[in-house]
Order: sequence, then structure tokens, then C-alpha cells
Amino acid sequence: MSAQVKDVPTKPFDGQKPGTSGLRKRVKVFQQEHYTENFIQAIFDSVDAKGQTLVIGGDGRFFNPETVQTILKIGSANGVAKFIVGMDGILSTPAASNVIRKYKAYGGILLTASHNPGGPNNDFGIKYNVSNGGPAPENVTNKIYELTKGIKSYKVLEAPPVDLSKVGSFSYGPTKVDIIDSVTDYLTLLESIFDFPLISSFLKSNPNFRVLFDGLHGVTGPYAKSILLDTLKLPANSVQNCEPLPDFGGGHPDPNLTYAHSLVEVVEKEGIQFGAASDGDGDRNMIYGKGAFVTPSDSVAIIADWADCIPYFKKGGVKGLARSMPTSGAIDLVAKAKGLEYFEVPTGWKFFGNLMDAGRLSICGEESFGTGSDHIREKDGVWAVIAWLNIIAAANKESKSGQLIGIKELLLDHYKKYGRSFFSRYDYEEVSSEAAQKMVDALNKHINDQSLIHTKYPSSTGEFEVSKTTNFTYTDPIDGSVSKNQGQIIQFTDGSRVVFRLSGTGSQGATVRMYVERYTKDEGQYEKETNEGLKGLIEVALKISKLTELLQREKPTVIT
Ligand code: G6P
Ligand code: ZN
Repeated sequence: MSAQVKDVPTKPFDGQKPGTSGLRKRVKVFQQEHYTENFIQAIFDSVDAKGQTLVIGGDGRFFNPETVQTILKIGSANGVAKFIVGMDGILSTPAASNVIRKYKAYGGILLTASHNPGGPNNDFGIKYNVSNGGPAPENVTNKIYELTKGIKSYKVLEAPPVDLSKVGSFSYGPTKVDIIDSVTDYLTLLESIFDFPLISSFLKSNPNFRVLFDGLHGVTGPYAKSILLDTLKLPANSVQNCEPLPDFGGGHPDPNLTYAHSLVEVVEKEGIQFGAASDGDGDRNMIYGKGAFVTPSDSVAIIADWADCIPYFKKGGVKGLARSMPTSGAIDLVAKAKGLEYFEVPTGWKFFGNLMDAGRLSICGEESFGTGSDHIREKDGVWAVIAWLNIIAAANKESKSGQLIGIKELLLDHYKKYGRSFFSRYDYEEVSSEAAQKMVDALNKHINDQSLIHTKYPSSTGEFEVSKTTNFTYTDPIDGSVSKNQGQIIQFTDGSRVVFRLSGTGSQGATVRMYVERYTKDEGQYEKETNEGLKGLIEVALKISKLTELLQREKPTVIT
């Protein structure tokens, strides 16, 4: 067998440092001779997968099929015993996490740049996940990076390309390859979590309750069709943009009010009660019904509040709740009411994994349209959509009013029970790194010398007085690791807060994120527009940070 393995000499490339979600670069960068091969060899040198089983999947973006072949060639030459590959190289990120866990694989390689645009002139990405199904921790990704810096050669199996288009098992040199259906295991998983009979019977008895899922031409199309059309028997017009395309149809496959306008427009025009979308690789979600946008911070709080109607949580119990720091405190209030432990972690899904593995966390979410639970170790877009349908079905079953309960009614009921946290995020994309740093330095100075405390700021909606300023530090309660400088928080005496943070996922210049949150128990404000509820606080946030002046930006690029 060794006769078929060849050593190919190569030289290191600069900058093969994986970020929070793997190595993400332009396709053209990955297409350079030896570039992708170097990075993949560095993965195998770091994780020592000899004799092990690895999963390969991806979101189907441009350069996905070629890279699957590269991984098979290099992996086999490096002694991988077995590869489990999604058909055509496709597995959504949550589906891949499930496959790794279900088949007790050693790890997996995911080919995705998440919600970044795809195609020959856009982004590609390679991400390594470990045996718990979650993204590799920093010590693993750092080791991969170190090895890319000194790489001299990579090994390949000299064999023709593998046919990825049919389910089946075969030998590939010394390695076994199993091509699996991309959807089946994921559907089985969701059927074991949710009350599908209840959802079905609700949808059947309420044919006027229209559902529309928008796949944004990302990977979730086939998953949504299998679940919504084939399993829940919804009509064909319940899905749109559900044909995965290598360039996502030229769009930006990110489920928010700006980029998922295809969904928002149809929902509003046709008065659809339940709309939802997911991103390129299927881990993000947006829930949007006519006239009712669910901010992700509320979404996770509502799922946590209704967890009992979801069989998975009813059976296993809810162990704890969590959110990322900038996410609104709506879920904290649910945790307090239910007497559950809850956590505030830095931005990034990996921080939830340790808590889940330790059995202390069941449901969590981030303001960045990520929602999920300990059923896998990634956030899960389609899971969130079905969770909402399960909750709506249960709420209607419980209700005695005879009136249909939809997204809006659930939101209002939640606010009546817990109060409302107005939440919004302003993104300033591709600003100069120096300008962003200046703003961060000025805020840090205020935090260090405590100069903002007790300062009163007038605004068009009243006065805000600063009560506390901090730079968020997190100590992981499981392994004790410390993460510093995770965002600057300015708190006010009325409980409102503003957070500033630099994005860790941008590819050009710097992206500044400003998160604003204001809590109210005044019923008169529950139906207000978010921007109205936050008007004065936004004025104050801009004033304190001198953002407009320092970043030279009148308006944010995206508001969520
Ligand atoms: C990725 C991670 C999320 C995280 C987000 C933050 O999507 O999977 O867990 O919330 O990045 O991105 P940012 O650009 O704000 O650093
Ligand atoms: Zn994603």
C-alpha cells in the first residue's frame, strides 16, 4: 500500500491561522498551489488521526467538492482508518456535529465559511471539530497554525477521485470510506427531540397558519424539505430558496433583517404567520412572522421558558441556561424564575461546549442569531425553527381562548410574564483598524480611571446615569481558563447597558459592534418598535464612545 503514497515537497504560507471558526479566506487564496494541502497536512500532523474515523462535510459552497478529494487523499496517506462523508461532500454544521457524536468519530473537517458569501471571488473555509462534535479548542488550532509555519512536504494517496454522489461503503487505498445521506441522521435526531405528532396535528388543524422557510440557497434546503415537506407534510410553497448553490445565488447567506430580505418581503406581503431562515452552513437562524421579528435574545429565552413542551427537555430535564455576554439578559430572568443555574460567556459557541460536557448547560443562545442546546456541540438553525413550531403547537393546545397563538402573541405573553429587554446591535463594518483601536483605547481609559461613574447623560427619551463600567473577563468554571478583553460594558442606573466589541470574524479592516439593551416592565412599551424603545440610549452610547467622530461613520452598516 505504501507504494501508492507520495511525498510532495512544499513551502509554508503565511497567515494560516484559524480564527474562531477555522481558517477563512478568499477562494483564490485556497486555490494557490499547495495552500489547501499544506493546511490539511498540518491538521493531520496536529491531531494524529492514525487508525481513527473522521467525518467530512461542508455547506456545498464553491471549492467544497475539490477540497473533499484533497482531504481524502491526504488523510488516507496519513493513516486515517475510515472517513464518513456526507453525500456530495455536504453536511450542515449541526448535522456534522451530530454525525461525529453519533458514530463516535475522532473528529471532523467542515468545509464552510458560514454566512460569508461564496463563489470563485468570495470566501471558503476549513474548520476542524473534535470528538465531542464541537469546534476545536484554541490549543488545537494554535498547534495547527504552528505546524503550517514549518511544513516541508505533505503526503498524498495516488488514487483517482472518489465518486461522492452515491451512498455506500468502499475501500480507498488502505482507508474505508462511507458515503452517507446528508439528511437522514439529522432528521432522526430532531424526531427524537421534538413532538412531531403535536406539530403535525397543529399544522393540519390550522391550514391558515402558513409557514415559510428560506434556505437562502445555503445547505439547509434539503434538510428543510425533508422535515417540513416530507415529514410534516406542509405544502411545497412552505420553503423557498432551498436549492443549495455554490455561490448562494450571489446572496449573503446570513439570516438577519438586512440579508434575509427575501424572507421578510414575502412574509409581509403574504401575511405569513411563521417565517424563518438559516445561514450558509445551517447553524444560525432567524424567526420572523408578519409584523413580529424575534430578536435572538428573546428567542432563546422563550425556548427556555417553554422547554417543558419539548420531549427532549421533558425527559432529560433542563440542566442550566446560558448566553453570550452581549446577548440581552432575557434568558437570565427565565433561569431565575425556574431556579436554574445560568452563565454569561464570551462571544463564541465554543464557550458553551465545556459547560455542556460537564452536564451543567442545556439551552443557550447568542444575539448573533445562534440558538441551540446540548443535543450537539454547535448552534443549530433548523433545531431552533422546529423548537418554535413545537412551542406554538403546544401553546395552541393549552390555550382556551380559541384564538390562534402565533409569534406575536408568544412574544407579548413572554413580556407580560418577565418584562421586555429591548435589544439592538449596530455594526460598523470595515472601518480602519487604527480608528477602531482609538475608540477601544478611549473606552478602556474611562474604565480604568472610572471617570464615567455617576455621569448623567441627557437624551431625547430622558436621562441616563452611568453606574458601572467594566471590560469583560471570563473564567471558565470547568477548566479555569481565563479569557480577557471580551468587550467593554457601560451600565446605567436603570439597568440599561451598552457594550462595545470588536468582531473576531471580519476579513477586511475592523468591525466595531455596539450592543444596546434596555429593560422595561412598563406594559405600555411592550408593542413598541425596538428602535423607538432604544432611541435615547443609542444617542448616549454614541456620545460616550465618540463613535461617529472616531470611526468617521454617520451610520452603521447593518442594524440587527
Ligand atoms: C461565529 C461564532 C459565533 C459568534 C460569532 C461572533 O459565528 O460561531 O458563536 O457569535 O462568530 O462573531 P463576531 O464577528 O461578533 O466576532
Ligand atoms: Zn454559520
